[in-house]
Amino acid sequence: MPRADRPRPSGERSAPPDAPAAVLRQLYRGIDAFDISRADARAVKRSRGSATYGELQPTATLKLLEHLQLGRRDVFVDLGSGAGKVPIAAGIFTKVGRARGIELSHERHLLACEARARAVARRHLPRRKCELIHGDLRRAPFDDATVVYTCSTAFSTPFLMGIARRLARAPKLRCFASFRDLDPHPRFELVETLRLDVSWRRRACLYIYRPR
Ligand SMILES: C[S@@+](CC[C@H](N)C(=O)[O-])C[C@H]1O[C@@H](n2cnc3c(N)ncnc32)[C@H](O)[C@@H]1O
Repeated sequence: MPRADRPRPSGERSAPPDAPAAVLRQLYRGIDAFDISRADARAVKRSRGSATYGELQPTATLKLLEHLQLGRRDVFVDLGSGAGKVPIAAGIFTKVGRARGIELSHERHLLACEARARAVARRHLPRRKCELIHGDLRRAPFDDATVVYTCSTAFSTPFLMGIARRLARAPKLRCFASFRDLDPHPRFELVETLRLDVSWRRRACLYIYRPR
């Protein structure tokens, strides 16, 4: 019997199989980016970034994307994209022109590539819509970025402000979303705070900035 036609036990509250959060959960079945090898973690720490992992929950990922209103002219970038859930979901569920994830852990990058391959094979995602880069976010090109997100909770203030300084020169930027708030910066105005569920706590604050 096709999945959708199977009778559900009464009282079952799980989403229908094609609901966006269920699609994401299926894509990530068996993919776990929390533990990486010591060598891989060392490579991340050498960048002065944190190798500590945490991620947006599927429903929170969709809530964030809905809030960002990504369109064909947007280039969305996740700085430290881990297993790639946010850029892959952006590619599947929004009209974004291009979604890009940048991740320094090679092991996490490979997991993200696996999830993207599943999404492409299941025809959820056109391959060219989502690009996954194995590299240091400090050297990421921002020339075309319009919306940048970072799950920055474990980043140090100097590391985060280094990102902000570079983003301040991004010519097309319209929005910067960060789980850590920025020190006052002449280019960025805090316009909103979202409450989103992340793997380590419920309703964490995501700070939304617009360039002045
Ligand atoms: C908290 S996780 C974010 C996962 C994902 N973005 C999400 O929101 O679900 C932060 C990620 O940043 C990565 N990272 C840390 N320093 C980095 C650097 N210099 N360049 C690229 N990625 C980095 C870590 O390996 C980790 O996977």
